[in-house]
Amino acid sequence: MTNLITRTISLVTVLLLLIPGAPIVVGQTPQARIKIDIDRTIGEVNPLLFGNFAEHLGRMIYGGIFEEGSSLSDKDGYRTDVMEAVRQLNVSILRWPGGNFASGYNWKDGIGPRDQRPVRTELAWNALESNRFGTDEFLRYCERLKTEPYICINLGLGTIDDARHWVEYCNESRRTFWADQRRKNGREQPYKVTYWALGNEIDGPWQLGHKNADEYAKFALEAAKAMRAVDRNIKLVASGSSNYGADWIGWNRTTLATLKNVIDYIAIHTYINNRENDLERFLGWSQTIDNYIEVTAGLIKQAQSGQQNPRPIYIAYDEWNVWYRAFERQGLEEIYNFEDALAMGMFFNSFFRHADVVKMANLAQMVNVIAPIMTNKQGIFLQPTFFPLVEYGKQRGNTSIDAWVSSPTYKIGNRPPLRYLDVSATYNAGERVIYLNVLNRSKDKDISTRIENQEGEFQGEMGIWEMNHTDLKATHTFGDDKRVRPVERKTSASVKNNSLIYTFPAHSLTILRVRLR
Ligand code: AHR
Repeated sequence: MTNLITRTISLVTVLLLLIPGAPIVVGQTPQARIKIDIDRTIGEVNPLLFGNFAEHLGRMIYGGIFEEGSSLSDKDGYRTDVMEAVRQLNVSILRWPGGNFASGYNWKDGIGPRDQRPVRTELAWNALESNRFGTDEFLRYCERLKTEPYICINLGLGTIDDARHWVEYCNESRRTFWADQRRKNGREQPYKVTYWALGNEIDGPWQLGHKNADEYAKFALEAAKAMRAVDRNIKLVASGSSNYGADWIGWNRTTLATLKNVIDYIAIHTYINNRENDLERFLGWSQTIDNYIEVTAGLIKQAQSGQQNPRPIYIAYDEWNVWYRAFERQGLEEIYNFEDALAMGMFFNSFFRHADVVKMANLAQMVNVIAPIMTNKQGIFLQPTFFPLVEYGKQRGNTSIDAWVSSPTYKIGNRPPLRYLDVSATYNAGERVIYLNVLNRSKDKDISTRIENQEGEFQGEMGIWEMNHTDLKATHTFGDDKRVRPVERKTSASVKNNSLIYTFPAHSLTILRVRLR
């Protein structure tokens, strides 16, 4: 009889092991361990980490969020189907108008009666700019979405006067020339735009009005002074590194040294690729992202050292994404696949692990152009990358906690070994729920993991959100965007000694929600 019971238990164990992602109840030695301690806090998961970016580029604005005359648009020209999808993303802050576009843009062309606005040649992306979508259209769009606007001024070919006038147009409440222009254009109350970027990628030779670090820092310092004189409540973001083939550390060092008393953030940009067609290598980009953050955080500390009361400076990762297949000729219309969705988790895990210093992030971009939402004249489809953005976004306001991880590793060239499990964890104190975000980057190994809790007690009840697919290259298109979607379930995990065992399937992104007693 005892024998029969033992054999039945073993059979159940084996069966459970065969179900990817199933919590394992008995038997088996886990290959990995994750220790969670809610007392080991890193910082708040700032809501601004779930930002996005809308540049005048290809079909991002025109034919993306704004399509006058379309039956899918409202009376203001905003595509309502797109707006509905953007609402699901719950975009906290929207950067505009570029990007490279910003460095040739004259914002004064984009105000006033639409039919009287000038059409200009657009030099960054070799296009024509109708200027039918301008400052008022953008700021009203943000208000409709309850999204914080974030304007990037033109520090390429633009002037400091242009920049201070723009702040005046948006934020001045007294009767001044530019505030009155705003009133003439139908807006009495100031828009109160808080976030302003001091130019875009000025370190890149591709940028209109590219400068060396000294020239940029001096110019940006004067622009900051003039803009703050108009509105002292604004927050300023310096143009940090984007040109990693050059001396990006030197650029950030000079920028921080000169601007440390006026800026609130320094921007960094990163686009990753899977040109080698190697999943594990692709998902190893986290080493580079972590490195950019940690080096820049060190440079912030260096700039502040010796100051009695330094101004807090954070990192705004205000352009990030996968981008390597569709360039200018294709309007940057990347078609994202399942492995790109996994990369979304990798980026967020890195941002969460550095939640003390990364306080803003903007996916580049929102619609059509390297974007999770695609449109045509008849409707939209959601790319696989859309879903992790929504799910990670639910952790805004949580406290990031420092998870300890031990897992099997792999190597990419001479780089230090990488853990197959890429992990971040956050805690919602109000709900007493721990979120454990785990990317298993192995192309073929499920990894059973003991998850150990240090403070408070695990309840058995667990929510599981998982993205996985047998085909790494699976994509969506119009009328067919249900193939690569997350699955969600609830389970009752067996908790023993305040730990539980869970198997993370090969090439999967999992978010576990575990409640504490
Ligand atoms: O997001 C596309 C482009 O990438 C942006 O215009 C530029 O800032 C970056 O190089």
